[in-house]
Amino acid sequence: MKIAIIGTGYVGLVTGTCFAEVGHEVICVDCDEAKVKLLRDGGVPIYEPGLDELVKKNTGTGRLSFTTSTKKGVEKSDVIFIAVPTPPQPDGSVDLSYIEGVAREIAGAMTGYRIIVDKSTVPVRTGEKVAETIHRYGHAGVEFDIVSNPEFLREGFAVEDLLKPDRIVVGISSQRPAQAMKEVYEPFDAPVMVTDINSAELIKHASNSFLALKISYINAVSIICEKSGANVQDVAAGMGMDERIGRRFLNASLGFGGSCFPKDLSAFIKISQELGYDFGLLKEVQNINANQMDRFLKKITETLWVLKDKTIGVLGLAFKQNTDDVRMSPAIEICQRLLKEGAKLRVYDPKAMEKARVILPEAVYLKDMNNVAEGCDALVVATEWPQFKELDLDRARKGMTCPIIFDGRNLFDMSEMEKLGFIYKSIGR
Ligand code: UDX
Repeated sequence: MKIAIIGTGYVGLVTGTCFAEVGHEVICVDCDEAKVKLLRDGGVPIYEPGLDELVKKNTGTGRLSFTTSTKKGVEKSDVIFIAVPTPPQPDGSVDLSYIEGVAREIAGAMTGYRIIVDKSTVPVRTGEKVAETIHRYGHAGVEFDIVSNPEFLREGFAVEDLLKPDRIVVGISSQRPAQAMKEVYEPFDAPVMVTDINSAELIKHASNSFLALKISYINAVSIICEKSGANVQDVAAGMGMDERIGRRFLNASLGFGGSCFPKDLSAFIKISQELGYDFGLLKEVQNINANQMDRFLKKITETLWVLKDKTIGVLGLAFKQNTDDVRMSPAIEICQRLLKEGAKLRVYDPKAMEKARVILPEAVYLKDMNNVAEGCDALVVATEWPQFKELDLDRARKGMTCPIIFDGRNLFDMSEMEKLGFIYKSIGR
């Protein structure tokens, strides 16, 4: 298939690259000239395992190309995917201006039938608006179909998720685009669920909100574990053995972050309100998440008393493992709040230091995680990078002023930490 992807962010770039990898001819469009140049020169603007190689391989075969011209993308393609940002607004609703702008550009460039697929995460009924916009700004008599095809990839595992998806959701309002969408996804060995556009849009918001709910649920349970002397990891393991519940996304933590869950929750609450339903359950998911961060900071201040002039080491800056993304990162929030209290920070992240430096210029950035603890009054684990489990704990303890660890990701074994002489505080254990 000949495919255009408008927007080369996390979703657009990974999607375009994987479509090329399975044999489609893909042209990626982005208005950011510097980014397009970087991609054309063989660079990749984000860290995503496996992506670099696939971009190089597929630009090499000529199946993947980059342009700043939407017109060119639309002219050369049968199916046009919209993968532009849908950022949150201060009131929690979604800023759909990028989607609307791209819809107008596509409309202006279309000279014959095209399938326009929305991949960006949008509130239910956005497809209807995109269709209206294209009707309004398109050339008379030019036909098109709108499809909703939400993306479920996780950052850090995006290539893997895209090449081996659990399911593909395709929302259509007529049968005409069904065959082309089938061909786009034929090479992927995954069940395709075809539904109406509104349901497809809702599947995305409902799925992400449910996953966030699962995390807030276990985080609330972690409070009861702390108060009763139970262990949240054992509780999660026991719950997860019930197939109806499942173990995944039951890792208690200092809270979820990233560019999706916080935004999608707010957007889902907002659109529900607009449709006349007060989604109180999801508001509580947000409250529990905010409270979890407060509780974690309270543990630190209760132990260290005054933070002013204390040196604190922080392991992890990305919002989760396997990514350099620091958007809405709980790790960054911890750092900002510690700095506000007057603490000095020594920080390390395997991939996110460059992006974090822009937000936290005051911190001292270390190249080796084993140097972080040197001279620290406490060490905080803020991101679940598996390599942190390999920290030289003996060296850390010897180098610290006080051997105190606050583990916001439950990475270490409690009894081992005590045996090593640490004061060790984690979540729900
Ligand atoms: C999420 C969805 O998983 C994905 O399907 C969707 O397409 C985009 O949004 P992502 O934001 O990349 O993906 O990250 P995810 O792995 O879901 O983690 C989100 C946050 O929750 C991270 O801060 C992570 O550390 C936290 N988390 C996750 C927990 O605190 N506990 C868990 O058990 C799982």
